[in-house]
Parts: sequence; C-alpha cells; structure tokens
Amino acid sequence: TPLALLMIIAAYLLGSISSAVLISKLYHFPDPRTHGSHNPGATNVLRLGGKVAATLVLVADILKGMIPVWLSYFFGLNPFLLGIIGIAACLGHIYPIFFHFQGGKGVATALGALAPIGWDLSGSLISIWILALALTGYSSLASLITALAAPLMTWMVKPEYTMPVSMLSCLIIFRHQDNIRRLLDGDETKIWQKFARKS
Ligand code: G3P
Repeated sequence: TPLALLMIIAAYLLGSISSAVLISKLYHFPDPRTHGSHNPGATNVLRLGGKVAATLVLVADILKGMIPVWLSYFFGLNPFLLGIIGIAACLGHIYPIFFHFQGGKGVATALGALAPIGWDLSGSLISIWILALALTGYSSLASLITALAAPLMTWMVKPEYTMPVSMLSCLIIFRHQDNIRRLLDGDETKIWQKFARKS
C-alpha cells in the first residue's frame, strides 16, 4: 500500500539522522566517527563526551525506531509491514543517507523499534542488555548477547516477529565485527573507561 511505502521511506530517513554526530557537534565534543571506537552511538559519545550527551543520543536513537513503528501500528499496518518498517529505521541508522552511509550499529534503534510490538519483549531484551552490561562492563558484549537472545525471546513471546527480529540480530552482530575482534584480543574498552586503547 502507498501508506506502507511512505512509512518505510520515512523510517529510513528518520533513522538516517545521526544523533551522535549532531549532538557531539552541539556539545563541541570530538566527532564519534573519527574518535574512540569510531562509532556514532551513545556508548562512544559517553566515552568521548559525557553522560548527558550520551543519554540524549540514546533517547534520540531509540525514538528513531520507536516513532515510525508506533505510527504504523496505529495506522493499522500488519506485523509483516511493521517488521519491514523497523528494519528500515535501523538501516537508516546504520547506513544513513545524510552521513555518507557511515552510521552506527543499530542497537538502540532496534530496541526502540521493538517497543511498540510489546513491552514484555522489549522490556526483557533491555533487561538482558543492562544485566549483561552490569556483569561484563562491555557495552558491545551486552549488545551481542542481547542480539543472540532476541530471536529466541521473540519466538517465545511474539512469534510473528521472529523473522524481522532475526534479521536485525544478524545485522547488529555483523556491525560488531571490530568489537568481537577486540573482545577476543582483550582490547575492548569497558563502558566506564574514557578512551579506547589504540590497536
Ligand atoms: O551500541 C554499540 C555498542 O554495542 C558498541 O559501541 O562504541 O563500543 O563500539 P562501541
């Protein structure tokens, strides 16, 4: 339907607005694309700037996923289309048309996109992320564990979304290649450490 197509495009364009880059500029912090982990996301802004800016980035990136899926849900679009719209928002965040297609890893935006399909699922996944972060200290490892758990959790709670969530998990894990390497090398930066080690 034209409405669905419009929402897919809108989700991608909204996702393409790199809040980490814009908020870092506003605060005169180093560009997260060229400093720290080189990732335009809340974790790296925390590393390079501060808690307030990182929180703003986190909230903005969550909303980029949440708003288009929620609107589409209220417009009555079916689960298949909601899945596509959530993926479109994440693809915008990861491959932003406004920022030379160099975006982030999609974790916050994906969690935001899941909120409208049910707090039971999104709440469980956010809890897993926070628990994994508290236990390991690595934001990236928490994201990887959550991405691995997500398809199974979705299949148990909201089976009709297993396919799109699995696709998002694959995309997120694919975007964490450098983090996986650093974790294996013992080189990954913990969330409370200020700067990534050179490697
Ligand atoms: O959400 C991204 C996070 O999982 C890792 O971020 O900056 O440590 O690569 P970063």
